[in-house]
Amino acid sequence: MKDFNGERPSEGFDPFDLNKPHARWEAFRQEQPIFFHEETGYWVVSRYDDIKAIFDDWKTFSSENAQKPMRPMCAEGRKVLEEGGFTAYSGLTARVPPDHTRIRKVAQSCFGPRRFRSIEPQIEDIVRRHLDALEAAGKAGQPVDFWDVVAYPVPAYVLFTLMGIPDEDVPKIKQYGASRGRMTWSDLSDEEQIPVAHDMVAYWKYIHDLLDMRRSNPGDDFPSDLLRLQSEGADITDEEIAGVLYSTLFAGHETTSTFMGNYVLTLMDNRDAWEAIKADPSKIPNAVEEMLRYMPSVVGWRRRARTAVTVGGVDLPAGAEVLMITGSANRDESHFPQGEKLDITRDNARTHLSFGYGIHYCLGFQLAKMEAAVLLRQLSERFPTLRLAQNFEAEYNRNITFRVPKSVMVEWDQ
Ligand code: HEM
Repeated sequence: MKDFNGERPSEGFDPFDLNKPHARWEAFRQEQPIFFHEETGYWVVSRYDDIKAIFDDWKTFSSENAQKPMRPMCAEGRKVLEEGGFTAYSGLTARVPPDHTRIRKVAQSCFGPRRFRSIEPQIEDIVRRHLDALEAAGKAGQPVDFWDVVAYPVPAYVLFTLMGIPDEDVPKIKQYGASRGRMTWSDLSDEEQIPVAHDMVAYWKYIHDLLDMRRSNPGDDFPSDLLRLQSEGADITDEEIAGVLYSTLFAGHETTSTFMGNYVLTLMDNRDAWEAIKADPSKIPNAVEEMLRYMPSVVGWRRRARTAVTVGGVDLPAGAEVLMITGSANRDESHFPQGEKLDITRDNARTHLSFGYGIHYCLGFQLAKMEAAVLLRQLSERFPTLRLAQNFEAEYNRNITFRVPKSVMVEWDQ
């Protein structure tokens, strides 16, 4: 285990720095599994059993802080939001029962495996087109940014197929999504918050325009399904439908892009796993689970204690804000033997906490896994000699939740 110069591992901990967090998380699990972090005001929890228990106990641990900006919006940013009519509230993740139960029931009925499976041919095609672009970019003989060319756009095109959004809007929505992620989970300066606030206003307006369009001209897509259910009597308001779209338009691609970037980084550093997948593609589904465990996109998630409560032997006061480091839980030796090691044949890989646990469990998990598997199969078939560019080392954006690489530079034998 890493020595923190004789200091406790919590000393100097910067939860926004996700560059090389694993040694510190391991030390947390061993020495300080639950501690209060003064600078952010959060109780930091790092062990698997404690985090699972918190997710499971939704009556004590409310999710109402799950979308709270880590740094409140500055006065000028608030003015931009108010004047722009931005009234968005979380679609589901920060809602609590009974509202959460009611809205989730409606959203879930539009989100089943049937709908996801129906777009599998389109997913294959979207992946193929983006790997063509990767191949073309590599012809110049220089390393190519897999993040830019493949991981970033592919999940957006897939999600927008489900949403019935035209391809030409992809760059715009990607930008709104990135701003949304930064507004909530990063520690932006006042100056950095202003353009983000403008993006949020544009994003919210986009969603309302989309809904207006679907009201007058319904299609075979997610917004039209929600509106149809509402017209048939489902208990959901217009504002709640807009909220669900606001959330899904973000949750449905940023998470998956990040996962794809992270798993390529992982596999390129674990050649045995890459060779095993190439030799036997039937290993892909479990490999996807293992990579979700080992290098997930979401590494931290939040809850608030409604009452005083004891977790893992530590007393938390009523109102305690809790940061669960799910990225650490996923490597906890007590649940995953040799947790710091990637093992694509691991039996219990799918018990990772990367999609959360309990009543808020990710609604898009089947889609995310399907996309990840399709990309991995095509990539390993078409680019068997893929590797990271010489001397490339990944750097990650500052964020408390999303571990997003800035780039993923790759090369291969031409
Ligand atoms: C690798 C990709 C993904 C990851 C890591 C991920 C992760 C998560 C996490 C951590 C939560 C919160 C769970 C909790 O509080 O217990 C969540 C919720 C959610 N996710 Fe995902 N997600 C991914 C992909 C997707 C996709 C593709 C969609 C939509 C198509 C989606 C839609 C949602 C929705 C709607 C919720 C809210 C559920 C609720 O609060 O009831 N996610 N996801």
